Amino acid sequence: MDESELLSVARKAVDRSYAPYSEYYVGAALETHDGTVFTGCNVENANYSNSVHAEELALSKAVEAGHRTFGAVAVSSDRRDGVTPCGMCRQSLSEFCDDDLRIVCEGADGPAVYTLGELLPDTISGAHLE
Ligand code: THU
Ligand code: ZN
Repeated sequence: MDESELLSVARKAVDRSYAPYSEYYVGAALETHDGTVFTGCNVENANYSNSVHAEELALSKAVEAGHRTFGAVAVSSDRRDGVTPCGMCRQSLSEFCDDDLRIVCEGADGPAVYTLGELLPDTISGAHLE
């Protein structure tokens, strides 16, 4: 799936976001290496700290379905303000994805594409724990 298409899937997931507290509605679309796409949205909670991020949900759904290799993730918010995955989500993605994972966000003129290595260089991985 090309980057515009993946971003469109993420935009549709925004509509399912449950974010009554922040009113910041986020959707994500994560593409596996075999081309399957898993979506996620943020799901907030009245205690705030239990809130699930859109990327976390997409990743968890994909892993639960047996996928562990990914090529790209797209993220969008209802404000189309170019939100990128937060630090926690970057770290969660790094558990399964290499530095070349493409991260597709809303840009001024279409998709803005980063890599995970650009957004999260030199992070901790399982290799450090051996
Ligand atoms: N949010 C995400 O879903 N993904 C991110 O990586 C950035 C933040 C959500 C969490 C919370 O529900 C709202 O956006 C405001 O932070
Ligand atoms: Zn996050």
